[in-house]
Amino acid sequence: MPVPEPDPVSILEALHSTPARRYLSAEPIPDEVIWAILDAAVRGPSGGNRQNWGWVVVTDPEIKGQVAGWYREGWDRAYGSRREQILAAPPTADGLTRQSFLAAEHLALHLAEAPVWIFPVLRRAADSGNPRLGSSIYGAVQQLILAARAYGIGATLTTLYAAHEAELRPLLGLPDDALTMGLLPLGYPVRGRWSQPRRRPVEEVTHWNRWGATRERS
Ligand SMILES: Cc1cc2nc3c(=O)[nH]c(=O)nc-3n(C[C@H](O)[C@H](O)[C@H](O)COP(=O)(O)O)c2cc1C
Repeated sequence: MPVPEPDPVSILEALHSTPARRYLSAEPIPDEVIWAILDAAVRGPSGGNRQNWGWVVVTDPEIKGQVAGWYREGWDRAYGSRREQILAAPPTADGLTRQSFLAAEHLALHLAEAPVWIFPVLRRAADSGNPRLGSSIYGAVQQLILAARAYGIGATLTTLYAAHEAELRPLLGLPDDALTMGLLPLGYPVRGRWSQPRRRPVEEVTHWNRWGATRERS
């Protein structure tokens, strides 16, 4: 089957309108589209262009069911147990809003329904103490998210399953030195919009030559 025409959205528009998408339909994603998305992702950067990565595409309901339980545990521990407190908190420029909490909760409860999952995996990472290790894959991961958006597919970079990495490794048949760097559930969004993510103002987080030397934007 031919790959459907991607949305001709400009790069900058896509950068400004690709939030986490967590309400996803179970509608299948054609393999051709998965290939096109991953082919864009692997154009991303890695140290020395070593590309010590692998991309595990999961559609198997048994694997999903197992991992979804682990994810749910992580969700309950990190956020679910503070549900009332988070929902009652006033909105701020950072942290989860009420809306994003509810969306993240929805994903935690419906993760297995996302038709395609992708685990970005790094080799020689399992025992690495390098604090910048992730920089050799997260550029490519963001490319994956943006490429998915071009095909109308939403994604979220997630990590709440990660306390079970030791059990996940044999489940996915990963080499001993490999580490999953995230889990991206992909699907066609059923709720929400492609809209500008809420962030602290760029002037507040930009430092000119020295930390603390902020400027007004001209
Ligand atoms: C390292 C990392 C881990 C994340 N883990 C999760 C996760 O486990 N579950 C989830 O729903 N979102 C997860 N997120 C998504 C963030 O919550 C999201 O990027 C942030 O709230 C901004 O969302 P927005 O772009 O929609 O504004 C993660 C993001 C990053 C970068």
